[in-house]
Amino acid sequence: MKCNRLVDAGRRQFLRGSLVGAAGAAAATVLPSAPAEARGVGLAMLSYPSNRLANIADLKVDEPMDVAYPDADSPGVLLKLGTKVDGGVGPEGDIVAFSVLCPHKGFTMSYNAGDKTLNCPGHFSRFDVEKGGQQVWGHATQNLPQFALRVDDKGDIHAEGVDDLIYGRLSNVLA
Ligand code: FES
Repeated sequence: MKCNRLVDAGRRQFLRGSLVGAAGAAAATVLPSAPAEARGVGLAMLSYPSNRLANIADLKVDEPMDVAYPDADSPGVLLKLGTKVDGGVGPEGDIVAFSVLCPHKGFTMSYNAGDKTLNCPGHFSRFDVEKGGQQVWGHATQNLPQFALRVDDKGDIHAEGVDDLIYGRLSNVLA
């Protein structure tokens, strides 16, 4: 009997730890539709920079442009897909941007225009850039982090948030 109580106490302690962990993970998730200065869930509020990535005139369909966001150590890709997609910006609603670090183990991925996916050379995960970075094959356990974009009246494209945790980070915005 005494033994069972100890086991229960241990389990409660474990569950409490799990909840704290889950809350931390939720806090790391950000919502691209929220204002730039107030994104975040739960305890942590992330303040994302607004970084100019390019101008819409710089982009051609299916010619990826290397970018970095929210800082120089977070490589990404800016893409004009040629077809309107959910979350796409610009006059055609077809411009999107993603981290290129694979969520599985951080290999740098490349774009395959044939099926509009980002492909990992490590263990071959693939992510659909027309569907918000949804994983379509492979080892990764999360979709690809997508950068929230805004186009201003000059056609400049600004990144202002990230919708999932970038590989290797405890927080997308580093102190
Ligand atoms: S690092 Fe990309 S699938 Fe493993």
